[in-house]
Formats: sequence, C-alpha cells, structure tokens
Amino acid sequence: MSDLLSTGHLLGIDDLTAADIELIFRTADGFKEVLSRPIKKVPSLRDITIANLFFENSTRTRISFELAEKRLSADVVNFSSSGSSTKKGETLVDTVNNILSMKVDMVVMRHPDPGAAVFLSRHVDSRIVNAGDGTHEHPTQALLDAYSIREKLGKVSGVKVAIVGDILHSRVALSNILCLRKLGAEVMLCGPTTLMPRYAKELGVQVTHDLNEALRWCDVANMLRIQLERQGSDGVANFPSLREYAMLFGLDRKRYGAIGKDVVIMHPGPINRGVEITSEMADSASSIILDQVENGVAIRMAVLFLLAGGLDRAGRA
Ligand code: NCD
Repeated sequence: MSDLLSTGHLLGIDDLTAADIELIFRTADGFKEVLSRPIKKVPSLRDITIANLFFENSTRTRISFELAEKRLSADVVNFSSSGSSTKKGETLVDTVNNILSMKVDMVVMRHPDPGAAVFLSRHVDSRIVNAGDGTHEHPTQALLDAYSIREKLGKVSGVKVAIVGDILHSRVALSNILCLRKLGAEVMLCGPTTLMPRYAKELGVQVTHDLNEALRWCDVANMLRIQLERQGSDGVANFPSLREYAMLFGLDRKRYGAIGKDVVIMHPGPINRGVEITSEMADSASSIILDQVENGVAIRMAVLFLLAGGLDRAGRA
C-alpha cells in the first residue's frame, strides 16, 4: 500500500481519493497516540519550514496548524494580515514568492477569496494546504469532522449526517459534503431556503427545511455557525432575526429530547451560543465538539507529514 497521497497539495477535498482519506486517517491514528504521550513531539518534519499565511482572521485553525507543525518539529513562520493590499491576485503571488525566496517548503493559507489556494498552487513552486478559502472549501475541517465520526461511531460509510444551518456561506458544508460522500456516508442539508444554495441537490444530498425531520433522520447533526460576517453579501438579508433563526433552526434540549434517540452533535466552531445551538446542548454528553478540536491537531499533522513525504529533500544538509 502506498504511503503517499495522490496529490501534492491539499486545495480541497476534490483533490483526494477515498484511499487518500483512509491514509490520512490511519496516519492521524498514529499521531493521536503520539499526542497522548508525556512528550508530544516527533522529529518527522525536522528539516522542513512551513509558513502559515492567514489573510483572514482565525484563531482556532491557526493555532491547530501551528501546534501540528511544532509537534512534528517543523520550523514555523506566521504571517497574518486582513488588509486589502493583499487581496489582488498579483499581489498575493508576490507576497508568497517573497516568502518562498526565504526557502520555505510548505504554505498553509487562509484567504477570504474562493479559489485563492488553487490560484496560488498554479503560480508558486511549493506545497499548498488550503486552510479555508472564502465560502469555497476548508478541507482539513472536513477531514477532522469525518475522522471524529469514525472515532465515535466506528465507521463513516452508511452513517447519516445532517448538516444544519448556513450552508450558503459555509466552506465547512461544501468540504464536508464532498468528504462524507467519498466515504459512503449519507448527507442531508437543513436550513432556511435563503441559506440553501440552489445547486445543493446536484451534490447528491437530500435537502429539508424542517430541523425536526433532519434530526429524526440522522445519526449525526453538524450544527454550522451562522456566518454573521457574510450575511447579506448579495444585497438582501438572509433571515429576519437571530431570534427567529434560533426558534426554527436552533438545537435546544426540548427539540433534542423530542427526537427519541441519540444523535451525535458536532459544530466546527466558533459557536454562536444560543443561536444555532444552546450552551446546554453544546456542552452535553451527546456533543463531540471538543473531540473535533483535539482531532484537528492529529489530522493536520497527518496531512502535513504526508504532503512533505513527496518533497524532494535531496541536497539538504
Ligand atoms: C470554520 C471556518 O473558519 O470556516 N471555523 C474554523 O475553521 N475554526 C467554521 C466557521 O467559521 O463557522
């Protein structure tokens, strides 16, 4: 069995085969074991330099990648900017080429524009990991989500996953749909019509606008964050008020209790507590939200390690 991915970059889940995803999961299993040791560090990426370029605000994803890199003994440089001077494509390539001139091997990038990671991979000579590009993809989030389902339920194939909320603005939703479908899970999307993309059904998923129906159907409910910063980007408000949204699409104890069975609760974070999910449910025994965060480090270690395996390390001292 090959220990290399079929791709040199991780730009989106589209780049990965089901065998690639299984390889990432098996590699993450090994790193999870490392992370449970008193000394949580391995020398696997000792002569590799990784630049984390965050052109959009992020706390947990940036920390998760940085921790993964440090646990692998990579050298790490960080660059964060949400300024507009880096928004034009040409400027982005310039910025990254400047950083690569300093002999950086891999780039982890978050950017507000969909396609930014793909664009970069065509113009620079380095391994690129997409840490979220606008409303497009967030592949490591989908991998850690599927990995967390596999850990909790023992498998992903055949599992019924409801993805609930702001599908329209969510890169997590698209990457999750692609990843779960590749692994043989069934997916149902649930949310108001105004937050449901028109192409939804073309992705091979079911669609409902009734949360009770979605909860009765599913084994796992992934409650997405309402992307407050992206609402109304097409000039119209996407829903009347947060209060109304919470009433119709929020998960609380009463609604959960009425399902009459156990459903695993997930959320990619950060949580708008009291909007898409109440604190009581987010912190309940059915929630694996903190397992997702923990697994994020092991999954990112696996992705970086496997991508670096394909680097030409000849000539290094
Ligand atoms: C997600 C993101 O940025 O897309 N969060 C994250 O990676 N920590 C989900 C979200 O912002 O809702």
